Amino acid sequence: MSSRKVIRGGLVITASDEVHADVLIEDGRIAAVAASDSSAARAWTDAEAVDATGKYVIPGGVDAHTHMEMPFGGTFASDTFETGTRAAAWGGTTTIVDFVVQTVGESLRSGLDTWHGKADGQCAIDYGFHMIMADVTESVLKEMDVLIEEGVTSFKLFMAYPGVFYSDDGRILRAMQRASGNGGLIMMHAENGIAIDVLVQQALAEGRTDPRYHGEVRHALLEAEATHRAIQLARVAGAPLYVVHVSAEQAVAELAAARDKDLPVFGETCPQYLFLSTDNLAEPDFEGAKYVCSTPLRPREHQAALWQALRTNDLQVVSTDHCPFCFAGQKDMGRGDFSKIPNGLPGVENRMDLLHQAVVDGHISRRRWIEIACAAPARMFGLYPRKGTLAPGADADVVIYDPHAEQVVSAQTHHMNVDYSAYEGKRLTGRVHTVLSRGVTVIDDGAYVGHAGHGQYVPRGLSSYLA
Ligand code: URP
Ligand code: ZN
Ligand code: ZN
Ligand code: ZN
Repeated sequence: MSSRKVIRGGLVITASDEVHADVLIEDGRIAAVAASDSSAARAWTDAEAVDATGKYVIPGGVDAHTHMEMPFGGTFASDTFETGTRAAAWGGTTTIVDFVVQTVGESLRSGLDTWHGKADGQCAIDYGFHMIMADVTESVLKEMDVLIEEGVTSFKLFMAYPGVFYSDDGRILRAMQRASGNGGLIMMHAENGIAIDVLVQQALAEGRTDPRYHGEVRHALLEAEATHRAIQLARVAGAPLYVVHVSAEQAVAELAAARDKDLPVFGETCPQYLFLSTDNLAEPDFEGAKYVCSTPLRPREHQAALWQALRTNDLQVVSTDHCPFCFAGQKDMGRGDFSKIPNGLPGVENRMDLLHQAVVDGHISRRRWIEIACAAPARMFGLYPRKGTLAPGADADVVIYDPHAEQVVSAQTHHMNVDYSAYEGKRLTGRVHTVLSRGVTVIDDGAYVGHAGHGQYVPRGLSSYLA
């Protein structure tokens, strides 16, 4: 049975255009976009009309960095695929790309099967997978090719966390060489984990155990050094590189210098680095633990470089690195030893709103908002133009956004399965009104009307950002 809807009277914003237009949806896809006062749009009288007057009509958000149910630091991230994707929908995100974990000694296949088992039938919105490679062996390198065929086209490596996810430079180089042959994209957690672990042990031995020391030992220069090294290794291998969760202005400078040489080097930052700082890590009574993530929050002075890089395209993407742990019972594990605080922040529900606030505050334009939150992540990770834009043929993942609504962020009202908000009390202008996923209404006037299992696995193509 064919279903037709038309979203009428809104300001349609994509990464390239802003136009007062109506959006026709047929069988879960965008069928046409036409100026609201055109005869074409007026002719769509048989379709169910959705009023968007006074609102923005934007592509659903693409969050290319989440960790639902991730095993980490002796516990599991507190959002399941069910709760986390529902919260994402509330926040105007209609696709996530989550990280499968390969554990040491296991195959990539085994990790991927486990993650399909966790997500299948649970998700409110569509999802894809990246692969965390913790054990780069000869057979694992061959497996990369097979995963690419199944739509897992990006692979995260860690220069941090020795003994857990860490790969040495030789393993990194070999993975990059494989990616240069098979078209995969290497994603890098760029921090010098060997040096950091020395500083961690020294801090603890000296009795510096509070959460704020997490930020001090994970020095900005050790992010910049690792970023530089990753870029040089990628050059030697002839592979493109995507650096995740960039927070230090010195790391941004490394990316910018590489891009000035026309190297295929890309980077993302996250809302926590744009809106929070070491002041939060220093909050008393162990409250700083709520803000422990890696790379760490930086002094506020770093933020100007991140905003500038987002404007100049030295950073291309804003993802959340959503990896929530409850304050009670999980962050608690690190009382008296900051190195035992599980690393990660909640945020999958807040990203689109925080970046809209950046529009209101004058950091970025409306189109740049859609570029860094929807279109660029879709292109970077082989989802474009199915996701990330509003064009004929694209999935009808559409958000009707009220740019004038006021809200106050709070754990009392958010939908993520975590007992605190990193943005508690923050006032924001703008709010998600309606969300469609492949033409199906998931959020209706702020109420969840979707269901677990609507969201489907999306096999991804190779990155088309490189072109
Ligand atoms: O602190 C963080 N970022 N936790 C999630 C794992 C990672 O390194 O992305
Ligand atoms: Zn990481
Ligand atoms: Zn992460
Ligand atoms: Zn459904």
